Amino acid sequence: MAGPRTISLDAATSSDAPLLSNLLELYIHDLSDVFPGIELGADGRFGYDKLPLYWSERERRFAFIIRCAGRIAGFVLATRGSPAAEDPDVLDIAEFFVLRRYRRSGVGRRAAVLLWQRLPGKWTVRVSEGNAGALAFWRGAVGELTSGAATETTRPGHPNPWRVFSFESVPELVAI
Ligand SMILES: CC(C)(COP(=O)(O)OP(=O)(O)OC[C@H]1O[C@@H](n2cnc3c(N)ncnc32)[C@H](O)[C@@H]1OP(=O)(O)O)[C@@H](O)C(=O)NCCC(=O)NCCS
Repeated sequence: MAGPRTISLDAATSSDAPLLSNLLELYIHDLSDVFPGIELGADGRFGYDKLPLYWSERERRFAFIIRCAGRIAGFVLATRGSPAAEDPDVLDIAEFFVLRRYRRSGVGRRAAVLLWQRLPGKWTVRVSEGNAGALAFWRGAVGELTSGAATETTRPGHPNPWRVFSFESVPELVAI
């Protein structure tokens, strides 16, 4: 397994749409463990209607491919504007995925830090309490970035409440 410093976060373009569509299928299948209401379409795909908006709303939507030693390791979709914040400029992680092959080796943590360096500002991260692994991951990553200065709140959600981490990323404070 490659070390964490070989990880890159590459801005995706519309030519990466087929790649992201494929990765989104793997991601949504993983999430269907947490959200049992997720249904497969008749074509055998989950689909992700909002993906084209990442090319047409480039001021407010940001798509990245995570690579590890040059190989595809996951992706991130982020938006300016969060369902958990009134301020329309607050940044939010819409989707975040690391391929199973690369998990528990620091890839997700490094990608999150690269993301917060790339897009400094106020952030929210929302995670379902039913997604225990992701909750532990985000609590650790946000806690390390902010040295414990983030706030963690709860919002109603189905089938489990959401945890919302709110914090500010300041690139020069990121240690890694
Ligand atoms: C959540 C996810 C992004 C974590 O990515 P990752 O690359 O495995 O994370 P890292 O290796 O950087 O983990 C850093 C730390 O987070 C914690 N962590 C990560 N995954 C964990 C899990 N499944 N259970 C408990 N703690 C976990 C650990 O403290 C870990 O450090 P350690 O491995 O030294 O114990 C990945 O599991 C994933 O893509 N899951 C499916 C999609 C998903 O749930 N996305 C998040 C939606 S909010």
